[in-house]
Amino acid sequence: MSQTVLVLDFGGQYKELIARSVRNAGVYSVIKHGSMPAQQIKALNPIGIILTGGPNSVYGKNAVSYDRELFNLGIPILGICYGMQLMCYVLGGEVGRGSVGEYGSVCVTPTNGGKPFTALMSHRDVCLKPPLGFTVTAATSNNIASFENAEKKLYGVQFHPETAHTQGGKEIIKHFLFSVCAAKGDYRLDGYIKNQVSRIQAQVQSERVLLGLSGGVDSSVCAALLSQAIPNRLVCVFVDHGFMRAGEGDEIERIFKEKSLNFIRVNAAQRFLARLKGVTEPEQKRKIIGEEFVRVFEEEAKKLGSIPFLAQGTIYPDIVESGGEKGAVIKSHHNVGGLPERLGFKAVIEPLSGLFKDEVRKIGRKLGLPAALTFRQPFPGPGLAIRIMGEVTAQKLETLRRADAIVREELLRRKKPPSQFFAVLTDTFSVGVKGDDRTFDRVIAVRAVQTDDFMTCAYAPIPHTLLRKISERITNEVEGVSRVVYDITAKPPSTVEWE
Ligand code: XMP
Repeated sequence: MSQTVLVLDFGGQYKELIARSVRNAGVYSVIKHGSMPAQQIKALNPIGIILTGGPNSVYGKNAVSYDRELFNLGIPILGICYGMQLMCYVLGGEVGRGSVGEYGSVCVTPTNGGKPFTALMSHRDVCLKPPLGFTVTAATSNNIASFENAEKKLYGVQFHPETAHTQGGKEIIKHFLFSVCAAKGDYRLDGYIKNQVSRIQAQVQSERVLLGLSGGVDSSVCAALLSQAIPNRLVCVFVDHGFMRAGEGDEIERIFKEKSLNFIRVNAAQRFLARLKGVTEPEQKRKIIGEEFVRVFEEEAKKLGSIPFLAQGTIYPDIVESGGEKGAVIKSHHNVGGLPERLGFKAVIEPLSGLFKDEVRKIGRKLGLPAALTFRQPFPGPGLAIRIMGEVTAQKLETLRRADAIVREELLRRKKPPSQFFAVLTDTFSVGVKGDDRTFDRVIAVRAVQTDDFMTCAYAPIPHTLLRKISERITNEVEGVSRVVYDITAKPPSTVEWE
């Protein structure tokens, strides 16, 4: 068991960033709600605690509750932003409105004569007076930027060392981990794989496990991990709904057929197309695809006879975001949502539920999956069906597949491709001229976005020469397309996908 650092969440937006910075430094971390009772914290036996930022004031009615005993446990604590203010307030210092709020990059000067550095700040309240026994260790031109009580191993920073915008932020976190908490740096992904493999073997014994494989990063890495643990008793069912991108279904089949596991590809394209006949409303499309997926999966599971375990590629952020720690958390858009109950599985196995996405990708590489798969950009469960406006038909799918392959090929040539990019088949027809003939064909929209988290995004500033090339190639190589447009809308107000 690795040493653990506990991240107590007070509602700030960077809790996962904090937990990941700790793990990247080689120390295991977990995120728990800020109100966790001190006795439970003690039972976890963390080597250190980090208090996150949060949107409230310590005086606010909506502030997250906390157990003040937390500061008497003798465990080193680093309070960040709100976390620092909470420490200040509880231990008898003074918190209040500073003369000005500080948002964005702010210059911070250490009091020991060290070099000033820029740090990311985002706060209105500040620590006006540190608690007794604390010394101020850095300040901005207006406010206290950090303080400490080294004897009690309590530290507070008003800025955010977990973000890349704070110079030397990583070192500040490492200093807390290694010099203050005496961390050994014993968290390794190899260890995680080994632990999970033996846990799965112990749990599954001689039974079989069923995994719904979508070909996305999470379920693919889950398959690779399970295939290492129980190579002959894993059954992967890949429901090909026929809305995958060009060559994708075959690629997934090829990769997993090579592994020593039982891989079943269900070619259900005709079924899905039949269900979508005449359907044009986006939400209805999504619902029908979700339902049909469950139905196909159920039928396959039945054919396989009784399999007691269902495996899912749930990852740590899925659990943290839903606010729960226990039980099987299934994303609402998850492909196999609702299956455990309906099919009566004895248990759900989620071997990646302790990992962040970047760790899942690394594990995938370690388990021998190709980079093209582990670094795949997100692809929606309903696939190309929600990138075709109006009714989905076999012919429209073919047109979109070919246009999309060109967009992907051209953008993948770039040193730094956008975060996500694809083609959309609009339901608009426009007049064109090919040879000496008038055409009246479809409009393809190209979508490419830049984002870290897909919650918001900006359109990617693709050079005009490349846009021209993409347009020329699509209109020349794809039949039935007369015009190509580039989507320059941000999210919000639009979304990444068109439906
Ligand atoms: P939107 O369109 O909501 O997309 O801005 C944000 C990100 O989520 C992806 N997306 C989905 N992923 N199932 C998924 O697994 C879905 O139903 C789904 N819909 C959108 C989208 O590709 C983008 O990366």
